[in-house]
Amino acid sequence: MRLRPFLLAVIAPWVVVAQERDASSTRGVVVSTSGIASDVGAAILAKGGNAIDAAVATGFALAVTHPSAGNIGGGGFMVVRFSDGRATTIDYREKAPLRSTKTMYLGADGKIDRSLTAAGWLAPGVPGTVRGFALAHKKYGKLPWADVVQPAVDLATNGFAMSKGFAESVNGFVRRSGSRFPSTLEAYGKPGGGDWVEGDTIRLRDLGKALGAIAQNPESFYTGWIADSLDRQMRANGGIITKRDLAAYRAVERAPVRGTFMGHEVISMPPPSSGGTVVIQTLNMLEALGLERFSGANDPALVHLRLEVAKRVYRDRARWMGDPDFVKVPVARMTSKAYAKELAGGIDTAKSTSSVALGKGLITVPVGESDETTHYSVVDAWGNAVSNTYTLEGGYGSGVVVRGAGFILNNEMGDFNKKPGETNLTGDIGTPPNLIAPGKRMLSSMSPVIIAKDGQLRLVTGSPGGRTIPNTTLSVVLGAIAFGMNARAAVDLPRLHHQWLPDAASLEPGVAGDDVLAKLRERGHTVRVGGRQGDAHSILYDAATKTAFGAADLRTPDSKASAPKP
Ligand code: GLY
Repeated sequence: MRLRPFLLAVIAPWVVVAQERDASSTRGVVVSTSGIASDVGAAILAKGGNAIDAAVATGFALAVTHPSAGNIGGGGFMVVRFSDGRATTIDYREKAPLRSTKTMYLGADGKIDRSLTAAGWLAPGVPGTVRGFALAHKKYGKLPWADVVQPAVDLATNGFAMSKGFAESVNGFVRRSGSRFPSTLEAYGKPGGGDWVEGDTIRLRDLGKALGAIAQNPESFYTGWIADSLDRQMRANGGIITKRDLAAYRAVERAPVRGTFMGHEVISMPPPSSGGTVVIQTLNMLEALGLERFSGANDPALVHLRLEVAKRVYRDRARWMGDPDFVKVPVARMTSKAYAKELAGGIDTAKSTSSVALGKGLITVPVGESDETTHYSVVDAWGNAVSNTYTLEGGYGSGVVVRGAGFILNNEMGDFNKKPGETNLTGDIGTPPNLIAPGKRMLSSMSPVIIAKDGQLRLVTGSPGGRTIPNTTLSVVLGAIAFGMNARAAVDLPRLHHQWLPDAASLEPGVAGDDVLAKLRERGHTVRVGGRQGDAHSILYDAATKTAFGAADLRTPDSKASAPKP
């Protein structure tokens, strides 16, 4: 599929097209934010690996080539749909350390000390990625484990050429974190000093060593020398993650959350992610409101309804959602058609309802969340599909590199509600379901989604973006499923966001023509035109021809859709 330069300039002014953003193949496709990592996944498919093998290989490669979010020191969610229609999920979200407490981020003055969750040794949850990938591969992979990890070992050890965007990103990271954490400067600083520039080769030898050990045995991360080293460095720097935490960490397989939308089956991630539930509840409400009468996903009258739906769904998220191993989350009710109909019935098609009115008894203003997560999609030659979103939370997580093992620790503890009982207008939630407890997983918004029709794969999508994630994912689903767009058009479709509180919508420039803004303001919405939203690398599948159409998101510069080379 060829891209039209004029269209690109209008839709995605932030993008310089550098490599193949679209690929179609009957042998499978891998789409991610890093061209090098997509190529690694496609090479695994070419070797006879299945979608799970390719997803694990791509995930490890992203830990090297996209270290702001790709990781072995963080966590995430993998949704898998097999060609025979079965589906499952792997939850490898980080957990609170055993020595964590509900009030560990409060200062002596009783206020949240944000410096503790933003960066440093107290910010990380217990990482889940390595056990998550190992579980997925052990149960469902086809190639030997070492074969799927080795490409990442090679990339880290031998190095790779930096793109312009990547060099700038690493320079920023080194400037922010290098002076505070010497191990970060050692790992990511340019040897001899100065800034990295496009074309420089970066080698991450310690990361290569850790990945090499993981290629031999993933347990080296949790019970071997990597665990020993992390434990030692945590103790020396005032952190609380111990060898006991690492040994006790478990990735778990969970049944997906499921729904239907316009005759399609929707499969996504259940709690501890809110994402899948939010996506299904939203689709149910939009279906109840009737989509047929609108000209497109960004028809102003539909945009009004999408914002009204979002407010109600995000209110329910704040009210009810947390780690299902600790709190009872009413997922069945939240994803039922009857509840969607009831909620949709309260929407005024001509007028915005205030978020405060919708949230009686729940005065909360959600905290802004980082968009430094990353999503990738994989389909193989047999029609198996993987939708994977994983994260360090903030860009480059806590900023801390574990010396000798070369990986970056997450700062995911910030996704918990940090001050029990206090829900205030400056942006903190104190509702009980997502308070900190030892061994508990923090609530996430990640929404890896797979959609099928008549028992056949149709769409694989997801995105980074903190609380904007479900809305970005929904935009791709609406484009592809409700309005029949191809993969490229559905990914390019301009996006919008509302998260109940603050009571303001954010629209990408392409949604926000003057006429749309005027119509929304007439209805009482507070709207702002924002920057790019999300990074939704997606695949549309045509079951009749068994062809996967991958579309990399043009909102980031290094993304690529790769098909296996013959
Ligand atoms: N840290 C972003 C998320 O889990 O939603």
